Amino acid sequence: MGKVIAAVALIMFSAGAVLAADTITFPAKNGEVGFNHKKHQETLKDCKVCHEKGAGKIEGFGKEWAHKSCKGCHADKGAGPTKCSECHKK
Ligand code: HEC
Ligand code: HEC
Ligand code: HEC
Repeated sequence: MGKVIAAVALIMFSAGAVLAADTITFPAKNGEVGFNHKKHQETLKDCKVCHEKGAGKIEGFGKEWAHKSCKGCHADKGAGPTKCSECHKK
């Protein structure tokens, strides 16, 4: 019984790892933005700082969210890019 639960847990864990790509590229007309999801997961540890409603697509994600949440956190922590050209690469 314990073995079955462990196996199921392992499958769920592996499936979760496959769902999110290590890096996500957000297209933007002023230069695409590369986002290292894996590195952010490892640095921040808590999914909820970005995924309030659980893992997966973020409702209302777009320019406003990015400039408020991505840039906002970098400014607050004094780590990570806050200048346009540091995120938007042509
Ligand atoms: C620094 C912010 C941040 C953190 C922390 C974070 N994510 Fe994400 N995650 C994102 C963004 C941004 C997207 C893309 C959202 C979109 O396109 O709507 C995303 C997308 C995803 C997706 C969907 C991928 C797809 O292709 O549809 C999954 C699944 C996911 N994250 C899981 C997690 C889990 C699990 C954790 C915690 C271990 C986590 N995320 C931590 C920002 C974050
Ligand atoms: C922390 C990273 C970051 C910084 C800094 C940043 N942006 Fe963005 N910006 C993004 C992301 C991510 C998106 C795309 C969101 C999406 O997928 O819709 C975006 C989207 C945009 C868009 C919309 C593009 C389109 O095709 O719709 C414009 C315009 C824009 N940014 C201009 C700026 C300007 C000007 C600055 C500097 C004042 C800036 N950004 C700084 C991350 C950033
Ligand atoms: C809750 C805080 C937080 C949020 C939200 C966040 N970041 Fe970051 N980001 C960081 C920190 C902290 C670093 C510095 C990590 C380091 O130097 O190891 C960083 C580093 C980066 C870097 C530098 C290079 C790299 O890949 O490490 C880029 C680019 C970046 N973030 C883009 C984004 C984008 C785009 C978003 C939104 C989709 C975002 N970040 C959201 C905290 C955050």
